[in-house]
Amino acid sequence: MNKSEEANKSFKGKKVLITGGLGFIGSNLAVRLVELGAQVTLLDAMIKGHGGNIFNIEPVKNKVEVKFNDLRDEKEMDEVVKGKDYIFHLAGQNDHTLSLKNPFPDIEINIKGSAVLLEACRKSNPEARIVYTGTRGEYGPAIKLPVSEDAPINPKGIYELSSLTVQKLFKIYNDNHKIKSVTLRLTNVYGERSQMKHDRFGVVNWFIRLAIDNSIIKVFGDGSILRDFLYIEDAVNAIIMCALCQDAQGEVFNVGHNKAYSFLELVKSIINISGSGSWEFCPFTPERLAQEPGDFYSDINKIKRIIGWSPEVDLKEGLKKTITYYEKYKKMYW
Ligand SMILES: NC(=O)c1ccc[n+]([C@@H]2O[C@H](COP(=O)([O-])OP(=O)(O)OC[C@H]3O[C@@H](n4cnc5c(N)ncnc54)[C@H](O)[C@@H]3O)[C@@H](O)[C@H]2O)c1
Repeated sequence: MNKSEEANKSFKGKKVLITGGLGFIGSNLAVRLVELGAQVTLLDAMIKGHGGNIFNIEPVKNKVEVKFNDLRDEKEMDEVVKGKDYIFHLAGQNDHTLSLKNPFPDIEINIKGSAVLLEACRKSNPEARIVYTGTRGEYGPAIKLPVSEDAPINPKGIYELSSLTVQKLFKIYNDNHKIKSVTLRLTNVYGERSQMKHDRFGVVNWFIRLAIDNSIIKVFGDGSILRDFLYIEDAVNAIIMCALCQDAQGEVFNVGHNKAYSFLELVKSIINISGSGSWEFCPFTPERLAQEPGDFYSDINKIKRIIGWSPEVDLKEGLKKTITYYEKYKKMYW
């Protein structure tokens, strides 16, 4: 039995909470954990403009408990964390461009909300094991590629700074209060169940929508910026395996892909696979430029070594699966 199969067996009968469980990553995780036999509770405030979508949990809707509560509600959080073996913390404000116009949603939802969750665990369930999904944006521009966990940290926006703050909060609670957690720095994740209504986050999915609609995809600059795009199933595997690994506790891990592609290669693949859409170059908008770190791909040696995880789905295969899903369920997402 390999590490991933072994990990999967361990969720049978376990009580699990997923904050942000109706969103993109949270709902994919929910579907997988139900398959693995876990008793899953989802907490989601369905914040406007974010990825919450009740259709995301269609395959497991009768097998999960859904709580439409806000992470910042201290009383509710004290109750909902009780008795959970694992907590996956995915609720968050993740609109990168909004954060430069208005810093308060990041401070309120990401930083304060995460502190509320941690305090609830400290008071009502100090035994739970927690995984937090932060962003590779915590690093800011890469000084050296690929970017490893000990690289300099210079986040470019408030969203990225809030993610870094939350990562440090988890580390402090892990070290001082023995609240067991693992924090992740995810690269650009794409796949089924992401929101498709706007381009403010989830760039790969947005390009897929434009292609399916037979529209023009605008490629910023000369399209040569490199990124290690990660398919959702791989991200879910990493999250699950990190939750189960004793040696992961208190650690931060990059979760990315060992193969990087340019944005132009990405766009051409999407158009090729979907058989529709076109592309053209366009200058960066000032907001995008302000947050664009340039070439970025993750060094994933640490997670490979300690957790035994590595990505299994290459870009073309991941795009095919994603495009097939949205062609079928377009009306639930457009
Ligand atoms: N998708 C990516 O590529 C990516 C990359 C790096 C990090 N992340 C992080 O992973 C997490 C999940 O991302 P996602 O892509 O699934 O986003 P998403 O928007 O699809 O899901 C987030 C969910 O959190 C919910 N939510 C927001 N604020 C809440 C609150 N105060 N109380 C309760 N629920 C709340 C939203 O309603 C939404 O359903 C986020 O913290 C995001 O910053 C995502």
